[in-house]
Amino acid sequence: MTEVVLRRLLPEPGIVTAVEALEGLALADLAADHRPYLVLNMVATADGAAAVAHRTAPISNPADRQLFHELRAHADAVMVGAGTVRTERYGRLVRDPQRRARRVARGLAPDPLAIVVSRRLTLTADLPLLADPHSRVVVLTASAAELPGCAADVSYLRSAPGEQVDLPAMLTRLRTEHNVRSVLCEGGPNLNAALLPAGLVDELFLSIAPALAGNAGSLSIVDRAPLAKPVALELTWLLEAQGQLFARYALR
Ligand SMILES: NC(=O)c1ccc[n+]([C@@H]2O[C@H](COP(=O)([O-])OP(=O)(O)OC[C@H]3O[C@@H](n4cnc5c(N)ncnc54)[C@H](OP(=O)(O)O)[C@@H]3O)[C@@H](O)[C@H]2O)c1
Repeated sequence: MTEVVLRRLLPEPGIVTAVEALEGLALADLAADHRPYLVLNMVATADGAAAVAHRTAPISNPADRQLFHELRAHADAVMVGAGTVRTERYGRLVRDPQRRARRVARGLAPDPLAIVVSRRLTLTADLPLLADPHSRVVVLTASAAELPGCAADVSYLRSAPGEQVDLPAMLTRLRTEHNVRSVLCEGGPNLNAALLPAGLVDELFLSIAPALAGNAGSLSIVDRAPLAKPVALELTWLLEAQGQLFARYALR
């Protein structure tokens, strides 16, 4: 794989690879006792669209893809909503053996735990992630059903039937019962819209595509999140490659 090169604009200017840009993140060290440290990683156009024709590929670029995959080498778990798992056809989260080796060198399991959020459990066992024997998946759901015929190692944390998944309670259980210290959440917008008002997001990694989607775009990264007032962000990093900006924000 050819390493892309990014310009670091903040904090100190320099040239870095995706691996170098993220080295030293140590997300697990930032965890509280009652819940994991949670970072969101999202991509959007300059006018705020989180997808074009229901996919993120048109607003991504090679640097974005390398940062996206390299971030997966830094967290105990990767969390994602059922809509995104279905649309983006999620499979094994870390396929590159070198990335798995970097995880192990950082004291992490070779493969991150996959956390899938689905109230109704509308997933099929032929999804690549569920069909992958290397993957460990925890499903957060309000359904009493089980997914039949999965080759992945699948377990369930359940909320009261028919309700939205109780995300604060689930994250506490992931921390205390499964020792999940850091979570990388890859969306989608509806899941983010539940995490954000509940105060469960610590940081946002946002890739900003040099494009305007207009009415070809859909959703914002926190679609219709019920916020009483805007959440303030503090910019801690800014990288650039081929006109795409990569911002890292802390939530105040
Ligand atoms: N720009 C980006 O970085 C980015 C990232 C991810 C996705 N996307 C795009 O976003 C689109 C999908 O959007 P989406 O908002 O539908 O995705 P999503 O949030 O991944 O999926 C929504 C589904 O997830 C489950 N869910 C989410 N929050 C829940 C909660 N609090 N409690 C219980 N279940 C919950 C529900 O599943 P059930 O219906 O199974 O109950 C819900 O229908 C796709 O076009 C994808 O390409 C963009």
